[in-house]
Amino acid sequence: MNIKLSTGQIIPVEMHKVKIVQKTSLPTASQRLKAIDAAGYNTFLLRTRDIFLDMLTDSGTNAMSDNQLASMMVADDAYAGSESFYRLADTVQDILGFQYTMPVHQGRAAEHLLAKAFVKPGDVVLMNYHFTTSKAHVELAGGTVLEIFGPEAMNTESGNPFKGNLDLSRFQAAIDKYGAKKIAYVRMEATTNLIGGQPFSMDNLRQVKELATKHNIPLVFDGSLISENAYFIKQREPAYADKSIGEIFREMMGYVDILYLSGRKSTMVRGGLIAMNQKAYYDQLLPWLPVYEGFSTYGGMSTKEVEAMAVGIREMTDTSVAGATPEFVEYFVALLLERGVPVVTPAGGLGCHVDAKRFLPHIPQSEYPAGALTAAIYIASGVRSMERGTVSTDRDAQGNDVLADLELARLALPRRTYTMSHVEYTADRLAWLYQHRDLVGGLRFVEEPPVLRFFFGKMAPLSDWPSRLAKAFEADFGPQF
Ligand code: F0G
Repeated sequence: MNIKLSTGQIIPVEMHKVKIVQKTSLPTASQRLKAIDAAGYNTFLLRTRDIFLDMLTDSGTNAMSDNQLASMMVADDAYAGSESFYRLADTVQDILGFQYTMPVHQGRAAEHLLAKAFVKPGDVVLMNYHFTTSKAHVELAGGTVLEIFGPEAMNTESGNPFKGNLDLSRFQAAIDKYGAKKIAYVRMEATTNLIGGQPFSMDNLRQVKELATKHNIPLVFDGSLISENAYFIKQREPAYADKSIGEIFREMMGYVDILYLSGRKSTMVRGGLIAMNQKAYYDQLLPWLPVYEGFSTYGGMSTKEVEAMAVGIREMTDTSVAGATPEFVEYFVALLLERGVPVVTPAGGLGCHVDAKRFLPHIPQSEYPAGALTAAIYIASGVRSMERGTVSTDRDAQGNDVLADLELARLALPRRTYTMSHVEYTADRLAWLYQHRDLVGGLRFVEEPPVLRFFFGKMAPLSDWPSRLAKAFEADFGPQF
């Protein structure tokens, strides 16, 4: 919860106590240099033992609550008819208002089933922005993704509170161009991940729904970060300042035909779900559920996680839970802005996004500035971030790189996992790196998988810049850090 100190400063105070901890360690700069080289300059390929603070993602890495852990003890492991499932379905009905719930093993499994059931070859799926896996599944089903974001979405130095809004005139233009029948669905992603965790407004969602209904186009809602988007609506959309997160959920879900989510984020467990009210949609999806995931009462999840997801859904209606990460991100972004580090504004939902195009203007996109920045951040701090730029975009059919709209190094803040000193440390090292940015050079691929290459691809530096950076760091901080 944001609390004002007597100095006037506002700080994000944790509304929880730490009960269980995981030890971490800080490898030295020369150890970090070795580790990132062995990982092919891809932070996905680092091991936990080589990482001080893991800000790769908030997926599956959030701190669970005592009540979530306790609920796992009463999980019912029945293959079919598990009571845990019925507790989850009741919670979804109660909090989100959907009659039908399908557990799946994680968010991309939901995307797979939705694409399988609803996308035909030649179809178009409209989105406020794509996520890597959501795009891959639509394309594997023979469809095309069309992103129809507003004019401010790609401006990384913006004050626009709702850069995740879908552009309604582009929506209408897409209907005119392709015809509503060719549009499999319109997908609204809560706090558009790849452009900096930027939310959409309730007003925008309502208008998207109106236009979609007029043309009989289903509205699919990616709610992986539903509670963060609801928190931003409460903070940034004046009509919702006095509404509870639960009330905001209910209104949002009233506009939605199919909700799916990665439960690894907002609900703080390892799993996912699809929910809806129309039986026709349920009937289209249901036959595929046991083929790809598992029986309809566990969907590939552990029943322990099914139980904890039910508790997590109730807990995310608490403003201090929904706001825990956004408030820390806001604090983190403010520290970086003070130090002149180029970072996406306004502060978004899941982490702090450093703008690599502005941080490393001397590195062309063809040499992967965001990839280079994640490697450099690791060398300078032991903090693991994630590349969200051209490395995260696959090549086109002709084998050419598709230059990403934005080149970002994302420092995710898993919910309730890191403390203020961790944020202060990271901001300090980023500021040091920014002062030494001329030392950072580009990368090239040496091993490149054909799909979602960012997971397993290996790269090499275009010069000896990583060792020169590590030396400069040691000269300033000594060999022990
Ligand atoms: N949708 C969004 C908006 C996501 O952020 C993710 C995952 C998914 C779908 C897929 O869900 O991982 O459970 O299969 N985002 C993670 C991240 C991986 O690091 O941002 P999943």
